[in-house]
Amino acid sequence: MELIETVDDMRRWCEGQRAFGKTIALVPTMGFLHKGHLELLRVGRYLSDVLTLSIFVNPTQFGPSEDCEAYPRDLEGDLSKARHAGVDSVFVPTVKEMYPSGYQTTINVEKLAGHLCGTSRPGHFEGVATVVAKLFNIVRPHLAVFGKKDYQQLKVVRRMVEDLNMDIQIVGVPTVREPDGLAMSSRNRYLGPEERKSATCLKKSLDLADEMISRGETDPQKIKRAMKELILAHSFTQIDYVSICDPATLEDVDVIQGKVLVAVAVKVGRARLIDNSLLEP
Ligand code: PAJ
Repeated sequence: MELIETVDDMRRWCEGQRAFGKTIALVPTMGFLHKGHLELLRVGRYLSDVLTLSIFVNPTQFGPSEDCEAYPRDLEGDLSKARHAGVDSVFVPTVKEMYPSGYQTTINVEKLAGHLCGTSRPGHFEGVATVVAKLFNIVRPHLAVFGKKDYQQLKVVRRMVEDLNMDIQIVGVPTVREPDGLAMSSRNRYLGPEERKSATCLKKSLDLADEMISRGETDPQKIKRAMKELILAHSFTQIDYVSICDPATLEDVDVIQGKVLVAVAVKVGRARLIDNSLLEP
């Protein structure tokens, strides 16, 4: 497994692979790998000849009061997991390498970034779209793998790829969960034992929405009220949003007729957690 730190070396390595006619899959991450990331690697490994993992805690997608500096890191652990997952190369650039002085270009996927997490994290998706576009230009993968846990991120990336005519197949992978339903996330590391118990409320609230919709409830307000009550009945919780929206535009729906995205963002202690579910009446 190659460990690569500079843009030039990464380009050269990928160029070499393409010259041999190999297809390249890229799995972009911010590291501190868990089973969700490993599932993306498994899918990437299966779908292509060579597998590249990027590990980069991207400062431009964090707000000034967010956890960029404190974001959990464990490069040694990550490299050992990557080796086991059959990764061929790991790209670990520094912030200076990705954003040299004078850097000033960004990508804004306007409408999609204006809902859900975009409302409480202004600039977040601009940071995500920009760094993903940069990684795509450096690696030039045939396909890239993303998790459906970050549904809005996946939509933003797909939109960017289509709008900017990037020749890359985007593959979405279902959310990997702990046995009690909590979606795997690097930020689960912030949870104390009592907070960890409360954190199950995200998935429980999605299950409640599923139940209500299956029973024929079509009023999103009623469902959201019940979900909020359930979440707030758990300790240490603070709701960022509970949304029932159109899965294509992410705009709130007035009445549930077809497929909807039910999405939640909840702070549990200092960990901001998100989860979602695609539901159909
Ligand atoms: P990160 O949070 O490290 O996640 C990397 C990838 O893993 C994303 O595609 C995310 O959706 C996926 N993922 C995370 N938890 C998952 C789970 N429980 N099940 C399935 N997939 C999961 O998302 C980012 O990093 C960054 O925004 C990035 C795209 C790398 C850009 O900086």
